[in-house]
Amino acid sequence: MPKKSYPHMIIEPPGPKARALIEREDRIISPYNRPFYYPFVAESAKGCIVKDVDGNEYIDFNSGLAVMNVGHSHPRVVEAVKQQMEKLIHYSYTDFRYPYVVDLAEKIMEIVPGDSAKKAFFGNSGAEGVEAAIKAVKWHTTRPYLLSFIGAFHGRTTGAVSVTASSQKYKRRFFPLMPGVRHVPYPYCYRCTFNLKYPDCDLACIDYIDDVVFKKYLPPDETAAIIFEPIQGEGGYIAPPEGYFVKLKKLADKYGILLIDDEIQAGMGRTGKWFAIEHYGIEPDVFCIAKGIASGLSLSATVAKAEVMDWEPGAHCTTFGGNPVACAAAIAVIDTIKEENLVENAENQGSYITKRFKEMQEESKIIGDIRGKGLMLGIEIVKDRDSKEPGAKEANEIKNRSWMKGLLLITCGESTIRIAPPLVITRELIDEGINIIQKSIIEVEKEL
Ligand SMILES: Cc1ncc(COP(=O)(O)O)c(C=O)c1O
Repeated sequence: MPKKSYPHMIIEPPGPKARALIEREDRIISPYNRPFYYPFVAESAKGCIVKDVDGNEYIDFNSGLAVMNVGHSHPRVVEAVKQQMEKLIHYSYTDFRYPYVVDLAEKIMEIVPGDSAKKAFFGNSGAEGVEAAIKAVKWHTTRPYLLSFIGAFHGRTTGAVSVTASSQKYKRRFFPLMPGVRHVPYPYCYRCTFNLKYPDCDLACIDYIDDVVFKKYLPPDETAAIIFEPIQGEGGYIAPPEGYFVKLKKLADKYGILLIDDEIQAGMGRTGKWFAIEHYGIEPDVFCIAKGIASGLSLSATVAKAEVMDWEPGAHCTTFGGNPVACAAAIAVIDTIKEENLVENAENQGSYITKRFKEMQEESKIIGDIRGKGLMLGIEIVKDRDSKEPGAKEANEIKNRSWMKGLLLITCGESTIRIAPPLVITRELIDEGINIIQKSIIEVEKEL
């Protein structure tokens, strides 16, 4: 029998089963993030292929939402989960003990960068991981303020959304949020807030924090931490230039301010290192890890330098955090990433994808910027490269057309296509996926 090729589309999406489900759902489910990227209804998935309820099979360039780093239903994860389900599903770590949390924490310490002794706290979601980080730095420093970045996405609970600044819709009608948060420009070099060019700018955006923010409206000696994504995700897959975090750390150290590194999207091997901050050569004080850690099960890990995680017992915990089944999945994920060399695969495949887009850029006027690291790549679409006017409609159309052709692809920022496939992706599937994007770009460039 000839080998099946992907994508495998048998009906124009959304098919009848997808449409029927959407109708049922509209009556009974909260609006979530509507409008959704496209009317796609998943039924099952394996590796890098996702099947919809009508039988179409798509290549996944999303990894769910940057979660399925080892691919969908990796056999090792499935087996670990099944075995754990038989053994122990719950015995709240808030008040009792079981070994799986400690086993996982020990494994995480092997992959988190830096020599300092660290401690871990386990929650259930990215936002919860961020909440824990915020509370830990406030406890430790007894300082009230936090500095964050424009374009940041850290989650939607009240604390996490307070440090978020990627869209005003996350804040509308929720004021007052957590007080004491200030936002400054992120090093988005393609659209520099200060209209400067790297490296001649000498990272003036950091001098601005010291010379303006800390002088005029944020007392640095009352600032507990600077929270950042090492590569902004939702904000547009923006990777800061070399040297940025070294200079930021120098500034933070000057005032005894801690650094919280939100690796929720960029961590767990995605960028071609275990954690994206390793590209920049600093050791933050706190790491937030979630998404890819447990292959779709609910888990977050907030890992801090041991001296920072000095809150008193009871200051923070949660019934389900560090659930044994999620811990078993996470241990299997870490072992799989190591044994299948997925960090290296992310780096290699990412370089190849970048090269393909650079070639495509020579033929296209609407590919503005190509950026990112490993398998966290952003392709910023513009109306034309000279004006750099964001091509939001164009990016949207490229995403929709790619989906219709069998590629699951989403956008971020104002007009950026995100490329974030599972780290197990093969060259063959990458080529299929990129060919689909290329066709969609050509169509959009001709028609819009
Ligand atoms: C960098 C980052 N931090 C935090 C979050 C929030 O995670 P969750 O949706 O699991 O609460 C996300 C989610 O997209 C994220 O990308």
